[in-house]
Amino acid sequence: MENILEVQSLGKRYVSSGTGVVEVFHDISFEVKPGEIVALTGPSGSGKSTLLNLIGTLDIPSSGNIIIEGEDTSELSSSELASFRNKKIGFIFQFHHLLPEFTAIENIGMPALIAGKKLESATKRAEELLAEVGLLERKSHRPAELSGGEAQRVAVARAFMMQPALVLADEPTGNLDNENSDKLFDLMLSLASKFNQTFIIATHNTDLAQKAQRRFHLEKGELHEY
Ligand SMILES: Nc1ncnc2c1ncn2[C@@H]1O[C@H](COP(=O)(O)OP(=O)(O)OP(=O)(O)O)[C@@H](O)[C@H]1O
Ligand SMILES: [Mg+2]
Repeated sequence: MENILEVQSLGKRYVSSGTGVVEVFHDISFEVKPGEIVALTGPSGSGKSTLLNLIGTLDIPSSGNIIIEGEDTSELSSSELASFRNKKIGFIFQFHHLLPEFTAIENIGMPALIAGKKLESATKRAEELLAEVGLLERKSHRPAELSGGEAQRVAVARAFMMQPALVLADEPTGNLDNENSDKLFDLMLSLASKFNQTFIIATHNTDLAQKAQRRFHLEKGELHEY
């Protein structure tokens, strides 16, 4: 396949009666090939989260198109989008967003169960991923019974569960100390390359961004590759 992601002339303006109009960007285009690891840097407020939310189909562009594995996401209905998102996109956020009532292994397996996979196969893959992130012995812990760094590793494993077209990470190390932040970053990169998983990560940390294959910088509505 040529490109796994095509962002075409993408624009986003937020409009609300309280805050007026904020135009974050109006014409951003780029392509990502399967297996590429891309870092997205830019100052606070430049639109990194906005861009990831649009790519992840969590928000709707004001203009332009997002094509994922050849599928124009603007043509999907909201129920098609929910299932598309579950199968095709893995998310890692600054805070883990794990389900509090479920154990580590259940949280990781959840996307597969939602997609209608059998419990047994879901559990088997979830266990493999839990081992990959070094937490097999924390399998039955609920999120509140994990450290911040451990919970993030569970969230990483969950994002890889469906072998999605794209894994999107928004400042996933922002809540960790330097040492754990470096470790988590290296873990995500090694999993992405091991599973040949296309990966886009927004980060303030330009040292960490150096470790990616490609780097984009977003500032004042412009995106530059550097
Ligand atoms: N729902 C919203 N309504 C109005 N404006 C918004 C909304 N969400 C974000 N913005 C504005 O859009 C701009 C981009 O925000 P965004 O969160 O994408 O930046 P960011 O690069 O992720 O910043 P940070 O590094 O601080 O996370 C900011 O100026 C912000 O104030
Ligand atoms: Mg952000």
